[in-house]
Amino acid sequence: MCGIVGYVGSKEAYPIIIKGLRRLEYRGYDSAGVAIGNNSGISQLKQKGKVADLEAYAADKDSSGSIGIGHTRWATHGVPNQVNAHPHMSGDGKLSIIHNGIIENYASIKTALQAKGHTFKSDTDTEVLIHLIEDIKNHEKVSLFEAVRIALAEVIGAYAIVVMEEGLNNEFIAARKGSPIVIGVGRDEYYIASDATPIIEYTNEVVYLEDGEIARVNSGEELEIKTIENESKTPYIHELELSLDTIEKGGFPHFMLKEIYEQPKSILDTLRGRINPETKEVKLGGISDYEQKIMNADRIIIVACGTSWHAGLIGEYLFEDFARIPVEVEYASEFRYRNPIIRETDVVLAISQSGETADTLAALELAKEKGATILGICNVVGSSIPRLTHAGSYTHAGPEIGVASTKAFTTQVVVLTLMALGIGKEKGTLSNTDYHQLITELELIHEKVEKVLKTNDQIEEIAKEFKDVSNFLYLGRGYNFPVALEGALKLKEISYIHAEGYPAAEMKHGPIALIDDEMPIVVIATKKGNYEKVVSNIQEVKARGGRLIAIVTEGDKTVKELADYCIEIPNCFEELTPLLTNIPLQLLSYHIALMRGCNVDQPRNLAKSVTVE
Ligand code: AGP
Ligand code: GLU
Repeated sequence: MCGIVGYVGSKEAYPIIIKGLRRLEYRGYDSAGVAIGNNSGISQLKQKGKVADLEAYAADKDSSGSIGIGHTRWATHGVPNQVNAHPHMSGDGKLSIIHNGIIENYASIKTALQAKGHTFKSDTDTEVLIHLIEDIKNHEKVSLFEAVRIALAEVIGAYAIVVMEEGLNNEFIAARKGSPIVIGVGRDEYYIASDATPIIEYTNEVVYLEDGEIARVNSGEELEIKTIENESKTPYIHELELSLDTIEKGGFPHFMLKEIYEQPKSILDTLRGRINPETKEVKLGGISDYEQKIMNADRIIIVACGTSWHAGLIGEYLFEDFARIPVEVEYASEFRYRNPIIRETDVVLAISQSGETADTLAALELAKEKGATILGICNVVGSSIPRLTHAGSYTHAGPEIGVASTKAFTTQVVVLTLMALGIGKEKGTLSNTDYHQLITELELIHEKVEKVLKTNDQIEEIAKEFKDVSNFLYLGRGYNFPVALEGALKLKEISYIHAEGYPAAEMKHGPIALIDDEMPIVVIATKKGNYEKVVSNIQEVKARGGRLIAIVTEGDKTVKELADYCIEIPNCFEELTPLLTNIPLQLLSYHIALMRGCNVDQPRNLAKSVTVE
């Protein structure tokens, strides 16, 4: 959600910032802008729409200067237009700010500032903050660094901000609380961004700003960091392992397709080093100190949002089956506001691709306060959730740029499978034979994923048939019920077709009323999971004229006779089928969205990293 980029050094800032904003486009936004500083002051250029629109607008304007900040805005306060786009200026035009997040008490601050004579041009909470900083700076006669610190002490909310000042051409001030900020350290230059993707082509040395920290970023000096409470901090430089080709399309037309096709490799990367080649024991280094805690937990509460929540539902089946631990799967946004009962013997496990989702973070904070053990499964290394949790496991799927999550989901399920198998074996709730068979299957599952990807052409044909419908129903049972939910989410996210996922048996309790010969139904009917029961559900659909697309196990005959289209997946243990059945559904959404002319990688209104609640 929203992108922040900044540069200070001796190079031209504008091209670096524009390139950086392009790299952050995947996060989702509705307008863009830059502020560049040079000897004549700060010039702000902003535009509604995409970064390309900003570039066209800026083409004939002065954008020279070696310090600058840039922003892609995902509107929260005020419609997406040029005036509300960031950066925002102080009343005297001397300060410029970009901001990600929400200033919750902006209304009362605004009223107080208006009483002092401040007037505002935009509807944003951000403009209020820069006026507050200006007011403090002018009245208390302090540096920009100090003015930002004093202002933030008055602010309630979540933010990442960068502020620059006219005439201060080698320095900007950055701060974070709740929204990420990464500072890239170069030689006599610094880069700043919401995540590392705009930075990695220049430097692999980064400093992650922590919540409540403010940094003075001066190109000729070491970073100076202090907290809002005025305590000095020593910057810790991390070495990034990302490479540039992992964030580029590599010959694919879209990131989403690239990421779907990367899944065999991502699964291998997730498994790498985590299964002992001789004993076949699972070793998840990140959580090994907490294995006993998990084994003895009264229950595991999984908190997540969206696709990660669907992975959590699969985790529920896995933990209950293999490790016999009760599991609850909660929408983080509901959990945090429900006065939930959390005990010290609970393990609260957050699942999040980005590691930044505001609701998931807040749910974890709540669980931590109540004394539970908090764990995470995240993809983005160094993000907020892994830094908050007691322990956790990374998915190692590599950067996921497409807003619609694909490989992150698959690898979340792989980590959950590893965890559940490991705990089940240790607890003795899973027999040795079952354990070894499942582990062997898991180690080779990437080959089966590869095979499922070969159904792409068939799926493209099916997509042609259904691209113009208005509704879709997805059905599955057991392990494949969450896959049905995920298939429906994927379709609605990127094609804007209304789609619902249901447990197949629930259909007759309501959704069956929707079925007629217009309604396509995707049903997951793999050989082992309640197969006969799913076949009965298919009969019910058929009897009402519904058009059926079925995901079946290779060699299936019964469903083939009933369904209009069958997509085969290789035979596989039921518990691992989500890793396969999910893939045709990703491809179906992709092709339908493409045929409908949708922006597959950046669907409307969506953000990759939802850092506001
Ligand atoms: C996935 O396709 C969605 N864009 C969305 O539901 C996403 O899974 C959700 O916002 C959670 O994000 P996270 O995994 O980064 O926490
Ligand atoms: N709340 C701010 C606005 O609406 C920032 C939004 C964002 O994070 O992009 O302008």
